[in-house]
Amino acid sequence: MNLKGKDFISLTDFSADEILYLLNYAQELKEQTKNGVLTPVLKDKNLILIFSKPSLRTRVSFEIGMKQLGGSSLTLKQDEINLGVRETISDTARVLSRYADCVMIRTFAHKDVEEFAKYSSVPVINGLTDDSHPCQIMADLLTIKEHFKTLKGLKLVYVGDGNNVANSLLAGCALTGVDVTISCPEGYEPMEKYFSFAKEAAKKSGAKVEIEHNPQKAVSGANIIYTDVWASMGQETQADERKEIFKSYQVNEELVAKAQSNVIVLHCLPAHREEEITHNVIEKFADIIFEQAENRMHAQKAIMAALVK
Ligand code: CP
Ligand code: NVA
Repeated sequence: MNLKGKDFISLTDFSADEILYLLNYAQELKEQTKNGVLTPVLKDKNLILIFSKPSLRTRVSFEIGMKQLGGSSLTLKQDEINLGVRETISDTARVLSRYADCVMIRTFAHKDVEEFAKYSSVPVINGLTDDSHPCQIMADLLTIKEHFKTLKGLKLVYVGDGNNVANSLLAGCALTGVDVTISCPEGYEPMEKYFSFAKEAAKKSGAKVEIEHNPQKAVSGANIIYTDVWASMGQETQADERKEIFKSYQVNEELVAKAQSNVIVLHCLPAHREEEITHNVIEKFADIIFEQAENRMHAQKAIMAALVK
């Protein structure tokens, strides 16, 4: 499998085989890391991280992951670079390509990452946009695969806002054969582009893809319940209004009890306890939720190594 030089901007750009290859590679790298035998395959390579939005997991897991692979990283925050404002994105991309071997970007408009990639001569990784969060979903699939020892045939139900995480989950699950149901209020569905991609991919993988507005019905038979915040970064002014709209979509013990007895609950974090998920549910599933957070690092090591090595 040769992914060298490719960008990692959306899961919709990848085949099922490529995603499964990256997941297996991530598992291998995780094992090597745990056993202290990780080969520094990115020795002397440099990663630049650009953030127009805040981050805990993405920044730290990329920085430490790159260090574990023998390379180095440099983080630029919004106040330092002001992506697309201080100078054009195309100029920034051409400058940074002269210094770095890979660039990760977290920003608002998805098209800004695409624009950057068009002008960058080094691989560009999407560290979250308003549309998608592909690195998160690679960590999620890795976590599910480790836990259930399989992906195919499982049922994942995402309860909440049809946001960037939901869009990428649709694509990632459908490609890898995980049945995926999005349970959201009417008018808060995932983007049509991701839904129709998932429907197409599901024809090949055998996965079921559906939207079920009733969360109680949706979680019936679920092996995985997944949720995320009701107001994403950039939607802070809508937070109060959204609390009202989404209140019947809370992942609480009553909802979890309606799923399969072997159900796990995942959350990409940060979580707003007592909003989209209760404190008790997070604490009950804390082991797997923090494994999921750790897996960001292993999944991203595989992505960086595959694109850059
Ligand atoms: N899940 C995730 O992307 O976390 P951060 O926003 O903290 O990076
Ligand atoms: N949907 C959330 C994900 C955070 C990791 C956001 O965009 O803020």
